[in-house]
Amino acid sequence: MAPEKYTEEIRSEFLQKLNLTSTPEEIDKIRIMYLGRKGIITKKLKNIKNLDVEKRPLYGKAMNELKHSIENALEEKNKEFLGTKKLEENYFDYTMPGDRRWQGHLHPLTTTTNEIIEIFLKMGFSIAYGPDIETDFYNFEALNFPKDHPSRDIQDTFYLENNLLLRTQTSPVQIRVMEKQKPPIRIISPGRCYRVDNFDPSHSPVFHQIESLYVDTNVTLADLIATLDIFAKAIFGASTTIKLTPHYFPFTEPSAELNVSCPFCGGKGCSTCKHTGWIEIMGCGMVHPEVFKIVGYDADKYTGFAFGMGIERISMLKHNINDIRLFFENDLRFIEQF
Ligand code: DAH
Repeated sequence: MAPEKYTEEIRSEFLQKLNLTSTPEEIDKIRIMYLGRKGIITKKLKNIKNLDVEKRPLYGKAMNELKHSIENALEEKNKEFLGTKKLEENYFDYTMPGDRRWQGHLHPLTTTTNEIIEIFLKMGFSIAYGPDIETDFYNFEALNFPKDHPSRDIQDTFYLENNLLLRTQTSPVQIRVMEKQKPPIRIISPGRCYRVDNFDPSHSPVFHQIESLYVDTNVTLADLIATLDIFAKAIFGASTTIKLTPHYFPFTEPSAELNVSCPFCGGKGCSTCKHTGWIEIMGCGMVHPEVFKIVGYDADKYTGFAFGMGIERISMLKHNINDIRLFFENDLRFIEQF
């Protein structure tokens, strides 16, 4: 048999086998089968010495050629495989469901604050901010607090160095705004307040208020009542009714507390409203002429109303939360309910 014929048989058998491979391991098996120490080609080459001397060169040449082409074919096949492997590694299945991402959401205090702000923005109020760290002047003096007022007591107010203190109310923002601006003024001011209190279900040393101030010519108590009525209905529902009861604040005259019909029983009386049908939600009044004098406003020309409410209290009523401490514990089991 001619050497080419003989090598062709081996070659076609090899190519058939190589065609069926689909992993590097299978390719390696074939390499060993043909080129290993006991492989087909290796054996054939060794067997040359058994041939007639004159036949040896041709056989040797043909076998070596075959050996090389087998080596090349194996290498090519390997490359092909590496190529597909790379593809697989980079493969991204766009139809797979995405990773679930934990999504945060707003704290109930934030949503209540936003809700209150929204109501007053619609009525034409704008937002003003003041500092948490205040002086005695803004927090007490300019608001007409007498020097011996109990809330100035070290037991109620957090005093800092250099006559500074943590504001006990958002009312000082009224003074800061009036100092800088001439009437008409129509602002609300949300922010943190601080008082020396121990944590209990209805007290926290840090809490939040929203302050409001409206100053212009001819602002009357009727404007205050109308504004509060709109607010109460917007925040607690259209069937809510309001009632003002006389109170005392140094910076308003007359002063009052705003009561709303109990959002839980609708005014019939329940444990939340202590069977009165009413719930007190804020302090309010007509700006005291002394306050106008301090900021340099003409108290004969201008009148104004002011009010201030605790945001926690509003949020607790809206969401039936019975312990103020829940707002500050950051327990996700609580926060995630809102
Ligand atoms: N600052 C008062 C407090 O913390 C609340 C308040 C009452 C604010 C009457 C006002 C107001 O603006 O007119 O208890």
